[in-house]
Amino acid sequence: MAEIGRDPRVAKGYLDAGLPVAIPTETVYGLGANALDEQALLRIFEAKQRPFFDPLIVHIHGISEVSTYAAEFPDQARQLAMACWPGPLTIILPKRSIVPDLATAGHPTVALRVPDHPLTLELLRSLDYPLAAPSANPFGYISPTLPAHVQEQLGYRIPYILDGGPCRVGLESTIVSFAGGSPMLLRLGGMDPVKLKSILGELPEKLHTHSDPDAPGQMDRHYAPGTGFMIEDNLEDQLGALSGKRVALIRFSAHSMKKVAVEFLLSPAGNTAEAALNLFRMLREADAGGFDAIIAELVPDEGLGRAVNDRLRRAAHR
Ligand code: TXA
Ligand code: MG
Repeated sequence: MAEIGRDPRVAKGYLDAGLPVAIPTETVYGLGANALDEQALLRIFEAKQRPFFDPLIVHIHGISEVSTYAAEFPDQARQLAMACWPGPLTIILPKRSIVPDLATAGHPTVALRVPDHPLTLELLRSLDYPLAAPSANPFGYISPTLPAHVQEQLGYRIPYILDGGPCRVGLESTIVSFAGGSPMLLRLGGMDPVKLKSILGELPEKLHTHSDPDAPGQMDRHYAPGTGFMIEDNLEDQLGALSGKRVALIRFSAHSMKKVAVEFLLSPAGNTAEAALNLFRMLREADAGGFDAIIAELVPDEGLGRAVNDRLRRAAHR
């Protein structure tokens, strides 16, 4: 199993040796490796069982590093970075040749992000290279928001988990691409959409999916628990069809009147940021609970709600 510790210097030792290490961020735990070293990158793909067509996010410690890895940094992208970094936002820009093709899955662009976590920022500042880091889960499964989640699933494949406590946001970063010059939203994520809109105005979206070269790796089916998973539609009918089975209900905030199933409440306070924070942990708990099926209610579309619903729909996709 992996060693779990709080020492960025230990993490640096393994990373300098070309081995992948789990790192905390404000969104989810990442599986980091030297972004400029193809051998180290290969170990990420191997540990995650991740297909090579899915490009990685390159984590840097500050905006001053952008020009080392990106060939262009349009004004709007710079404004966005200044307003949101460190934070749950990834910016896609034309890449420089120093970034290996393996990191970008052959795309002429690179995804850059400054994560908002003190331990990981300290680690990044101590390194001579940036860290490529996908979420630290096996490909297609739920992203980890605690060191224990990483240990359970990848612990036997990596030497060290840098323990930064529970993630503060709980959903992956929002991705905005400037590949075509003007901004395009590729992934809903942990950034407050109101703040995004106040900086960029109304943003065109290209959230789709499997056959889309601009939003690679955004699989229709993703975040998938092993247990049968569906979105709540007509609950009576759905429960009727599952009579005699053990069912878990993932709900936004209101307890249902009749105790028909085990319930997980995403946000007792009824806010979408809390729902985002709890989503992946509760999906895991429900998945580990030995249920025959999980039914999840969509949350209100405001705030981080659209991003939460995006994850729920992908988890239910078959
Ligand atoms: O919050 C996060 O973003 C977390 C933490 C660890 O930083 N990372 C994360 O990585 O969610 P991952 O690998 O699970 O998702 C990265 C996604 C890819 O699947 C792809 O959709 C997009 O980022 N991406 C990366 N490079 C891209 C590129 N050059 N063009 C378009 N999309 C890209
Ligand atoms: Mg992921």
